[in-house]
Amino acid sequence: MSGYLVGKASEIPVGEKKIIEANGRSIGVYNIGGEFFAIRNTCPHQGAPLCKGIKTAFITSKGPGNFDYERDGEIVRCPWHQWEFDIKTGCMVVDPKMRTKSYEVTVERYDVSIEENNVYVHL
Ligand code: FES
Repeated sequence: MSGYLVGKASEIPVGEKKIIEANGRSIGVYNIGGEFFAIRNTCPHQGAPLCKGIKTAFITSKGPGNFDYERDGEIVRCPWHQWEFDIKTGCMVVDPKMRTKSYEVTVERYDVSIEENNVYVHL
């Protein structure tokens, strides 16, 4: 399977991201725990560069004074108005009907003689 070449897998360490321009689209490619995910770098609210926002966790509470941090690093917070989106799906945390586009990502070895995998986004 082929797609738009993002770069070598080692260029995006666990917990990091790379923003690419592919066919006129800005896309953020994230490495979450060794798996790669890609979302459009455009917030569906007012068009901010979503992938320039900080990564955070999904915060839950069982009651006053209690906070649990789950899925640390899997949520991106828009830099303009702080709406939060699931990097794995592109869906807004509090209203999953609101979303930015997500893309399939594959990791492939282009040349079997080279011990390096490439990351591709499928537009
Ligand atoms: S532009 Fe992203 S929350 Fe407003």
